[in-house]
Amino acid sequence: MNKSFGNDDARLERFVAGLYTPEDELLRDIRERSAAAGLPDIQIAALDARHLEVLARACGARRAVEIGTLGGYSGVAILRGMRGEGVLDTFELEPAHARLAEETFRKAGFAGRARIHVGPALERLRAIETEAPFDLCFIDADKESYDSYLDWATGHLRPGGLVIGDNAFLFGELAEPPGPHPDAAMRAMRAFHERLAGSGEWIATVLPTGEGLAVGVRV
Ligand SMILES: C[S@@+](CC[C@H](N)C(=O)[O-])C[C@H]1O[C@@H](n2cnc3c(N)ncnc32)[C@H](O)[C@@H]1O
Repeated sequence: MNKSFGNDDARLERFVAGLYTPEDELLRDIRERSAAAGLPDIQIAALDARHLEVLARACGARRAVEIGTLGGYSGVAILRGMRGEGVLDTFELEPAHARLAEETFRKAGFAGRARIHVGPALERLRAIETEAPFDLCFIDADKESYDSYLDWATGHLRPGGLVIGDNAFLFGELAEPPGPHPDAAMRAMRAFHERLAGSGEWIATVLPTGEGLAVGVRV
């Protein structure tokens, strides 16, 4: 190994963020409204928003799915990456989060292109299955279900479609081998990676962002 996996030089992060992703007014407003409404401060970083926008544009996404809406921060990034009439179906467990996201999409001018589904994603995803195949699926919700969400993406994305999973390092927990009794999140995240990396169904990698951003192209 002659080159390192990631880069933790904060000066380089400032250089890239300053040039490519100064957080614009719209994204800042989502963060601030979310905080004011008491939502947890767990939306993706501005640089990850740009990653999503670029990936959505690169795969020509017209139908995207997001699991874990929160206040709509990452949803706006995906919608920005989709051309013209692209539609995002986004899934959120908490009605209060969904309400804030609804306001976000309206303020961003995406009201007609963002469909928010409220409830447990694994149940609510069934409602859109007849509209498959989709072009992109961004997974950013409960870690205990990452393997199930990948099952869903495997069955409902077109060849060439992208699955993207945030928090792929499981907050650093994957650095250690699993103990004899791994918890549900550890089991699910390991199963997620094993299928993504080794099943032959995906060409995949993990981008070494702070949280780890898994990206797979459906074969
Ligand atoms: C990390 S936040 C999503 C952040 C969002 N993607 C962003 O960057 O703007 C995770 C969200 O998933 C939601 N969530 C948790 N479990 C869920 C489930 N089973 N189904 C749908 N949403 C869920 C949480 O309520 C929370 O709003």
